[in-house]
This record gives sequence, structure tokens and C-alpha cells, in this order.
Amino acid sequence: MSKTRRIEALQDLEPTTDEFHASVIKGLSAPQKTLPCKFFYDERGSQLFDEICSLPEYYPTRTELGILERHAGDIARLAGPKARLVELGSGAGVKIRLLLRALEAPAAYLPVEISREHMLAANRSIAARFPELHIAPVCADYTRPFALPELPGIEHGTTLGFFPGSTIGNFSRAEAVSFLRVARDLLGKDALMIVGVDLVKDTRLLRAAYNDTAGVTAAFNLNLLRRINRELGGTFDLAAFRHEARWNEALERIEMHLVSMREQQIAIRRDSFHFAEGETIHTESSHKYRIDGFKALAMEAGYAPVDVWTDDEELFSVHALRTA
Ligand code: AVI
Repeated sequence: MSKTRRIEALQDLEPTTDEFHASVIKGLSAPQKTLPCKFFYDERGSQLFDEICSLPEYYPTRTELGILERHAGDIARLAGPKARLVELGSGAGVKIRLLLRALEAPAAYLPVEISREHMLAANRSIAARFPELHIAPVCADYTRPFALPELPGIEHGTTLGFFPGSTIGNFSRAEAVSFLRVARDLLGKDALMIVGVDLVKDTRLLRAAYNDTAGVTAAFNLNLLRRINRELGGTFDLAAFRHEARWNEALERIEMHLVSMREQQIAIRRDSFHFAEGETIHTESSHKYRIDGFKALAMEAGYAPVDVWTDDEELFSVHALRTA
């Protein structure tokens, strides 16, 4: 079999423009205007996010990578041979290579990602690096139930879920529980799930991570308005909004907002929205957890905590969970 035929046809469940439109209208009609952060990741947004991951202030990516480097062998031992690896939100594919190198003869890699082109590009380079690996990509919003592609003729051992990057923090607590339940049903019984979870820490470090001096996070946040203009015919003036990231002490989360710098009216197709000066659109929450708090959440979602690893400064944690 040729190397390229090891990549299955894409299972494409990408959200439609109608879903995007409906979410935007709903969010901008609420008293506190909101936009769902999952729509950050168009092609430009995915590139900006990759840039964020290498910023000096954005500690989560390099810290999680360090933990994974140190504990990939532990994860491989827990998973055993011929694992079926399911990555939720596959991104640039850097962390997965670490796992793929450590695992014993992984049977298949199933990346699930909302940003189609970005995932396909990452898959091509993974296929070149791991020519024996069977890859079955899915473009989907993984917060909604969906089925994994069948892999006829491929025998596999443990199913290993991988949800790195503290993307779990972008859900509210209730959404995180419901996401983990969806993932548990997707992965099946006795599966292993590896989740990267950012930890509560000195708020100066947290604030800096979301207010980088190069302005990449600001560009990432504002790109959502550009996407609405391009895909939905919106009339946002990007120069009339500014990025703001705040620490919400009570909810232990960073909140990203877009602040209207003047009173203004914007239109999206037939709908029109008024902004007072200083009014904000809440675009993202990034919840930070304590280790025991996250274990309790995972148990509520039907998982048994197996192990947890952190860096020496306890900035970030990687949890190993087993589906009950
Ligand atoms: C993807 N997610 C975990 C990132 C975070 O830190 O919440 C997204 C991000 N937003 C701003 N910077 C990075």
C-alpha cells in the first residue's frame, strides 16, 4: 500500500455558515454580548494561535510540552501496544508527535479538528514522519456527539483520547463536564484520556499570557470580527474595537473581551446591533483549575483519575483518566 493511502478520506462535519450566522446573531443579541470562541479558528485565526503558542508570555504550550516530554513513556505504558489514538482539537500536531514516538506500534491516529485545512496540512507531515501509521481525519465540532470513522481490518488495543492545550478551560465548568461525557461515549469503555489543564497561579503571569507585548493575542481576538465581516457580510470597523483580557477572580478565569471604543451601530445581513462606548463582546473564557478541582470534575463526568503530572513550578497539569 502506498504511504498516502494510509490517510483515509476526511469525514467532514464542519459547522456550516448558517450555524456560524445563528450563533453570532444569538450572541450579539444577549445583554452581555458574546461570541463563541470556537469560531476564532479560521485559517488566519489558526495561524495566529500557532504564533501565540510560541510567545514568551504564553507559558502553557512550552510547559505542557515539557511535561509530555518527561512523561510520554508513562502514558505509553498506560496505553500499551497498538493504541488507537484520538486527538480532539489537533492543531499544529507538535504534541501528538511526542506521543506517537513514545507509543508502542500505534494502530491508528484519528485527529478531530474544526479547522479543516490546518488539520490536513498537519496530517500530511505526520504521515511523512510515521509512514506505517493509519490516519483517519475528522473535521467536526467535537463538543457535539459524532461517531468516529470505522477502521475495517485495523486491529487496535486501548483507545487513547488526547485533549491537550487546556482547551478544556475554554468551556464553563458545566460545559466541561458535558464535553467529557461526550468524549467518554466516543472513546468507549476502559479508554484512557489524557487532558492538559492549566492551573491557577500568580495573576501577573496569567494577565501577561493574554496581553502579550507583540499584540498577537489582540490580533487573534479581533480576527473574529474580520471573519464575521468576510463570511457573514458584517460591517465591523476593526479600528473601533480593542482587545482586553481580564482576570475574573471569583470564577478563576481569564476573560477576553472586545471593547467598543465609541458608540456605534453595526449590521450583519438584516440584523443591526448597537454598541455603547466601552461596551464589550465577551469572546473567550479560559478557566484555570486546581488539581483536586479538576479531578472532581472528571469524576462527575464518569472518569477515574489514574495519574497527574505537573512541571516543577506547578504552572500546568496533565491528567490521565480512565473511562468507567
Ligand atoms: C485554546 N485555548 C486553550 C487558548 C487559551 O489559552 O485559552 C486560546 C487562547 N486565547 C488567547 N490566547 C490563547
